[in-house]
Amino acid sequence: MSKNFLFAGASSAIARQAAILLQRENHRVFGISTKPLPDGYDQSFLIERYSQGFFPVLDQPLDGLVYFPGTINLKPFSRLTPADFTRDYEINALGAAMLIQHYLTNLKKNEHASVVLISSVAASLGLPFHGSISMAKAALEGLTRALGAEFAPTIRVNCIAPSMVDTPLASKFVDTPEKREQLTKRNPMRKIGTPADIASMITFLLNDDSQWMTGQVLNVDGGMGALKN
Ligand SMILES: NC(=O)c1ccc[n+]([C@@H]2O[C@H](COP(=O)([O-])OP(=O)(O)OC[C@H]3O[C@@H](n4cnc5c(N)ncnc54)[C@H](OP(=O)(O)O)[C@@H]3O)[C@@H](O)[C@H]2O)c1
Repeated sequence: MSKNFLFAGASSAIARQAAILLQRENHRVFGISTKPLPDGYDQSFLIERYSQGFFPVLDQPLDGLVYFPGTINLKPFSRLTPADFTRDYEINALGAAMLIQHYLTNLKKNEHASVVLISSVAASLGLPFHGSISMAKAALEGLTRALGAEFAPTIRVNCIAPSMVDTPLASKFVDTPEKREQLTKRNPMRKIGTPADIASMITFLLNDDSQWMTGQVLNVDGGMGALKN
């Protein structure tokens, strides 16, 4: 049966890969973005920002919702300003809460809807210069568990925590062969992630194969969050 999914932050390379996988299964994927979206979504909506809760109204029931917007704002702690903390929190965490609130009625029209959020390994693994982003993503992980509890058994809420993935957001960390080599060496699986590595977990969490999973944060990170080697 064809399902309806909504992606916020739909310009994301990971989002676009996940949309391809879902559309191959004949599902519909709607995209919301702060940028004009290229083809690849069944319907797309342009918005100004995520944290204010002004989202398009949809009449259809939603089978799933994914919130992609995120930042990688790395600075020594002494240089992080209140504006950095606020901006990272708004984009990474508050926007997700506002989005879920806005589309709750659409999700509740469905017997088994699924929400997927995207955190980062930095929420649970201490990394230098990640003061602001680790706080924002940890808030998102807290939201995952709180809403998982509040919405069970109707709506499942899960979260994926990647390490470095080769997307435009991470480009300045992987833009020379030396940087790529160093990051590859630091990862237990000796690999920088690809959008496809994360997209396949997103589609798993959206579909009924994961129907007994909720409130989980899944590290899809080449082992980086759990292993020392
Ligand atoms: N790439 C990595 O190494 C990595 C590692 C850990 C976690 N993640 C997470 O993965 C998610 C998807 O990112 P990606 O790697 O696929 O990156 P990407 O392809 O560069 O996409 C960037 C994403 O962030 C949003 N965004 C960027 N700047 C924004 C701003 N100023 N205000 C609001 N939204 C903004 C974009 O939304 P629009 O469509 O509205 O532009 C888009 O969803 C993010 O939550 C990120 O934190 C990525």
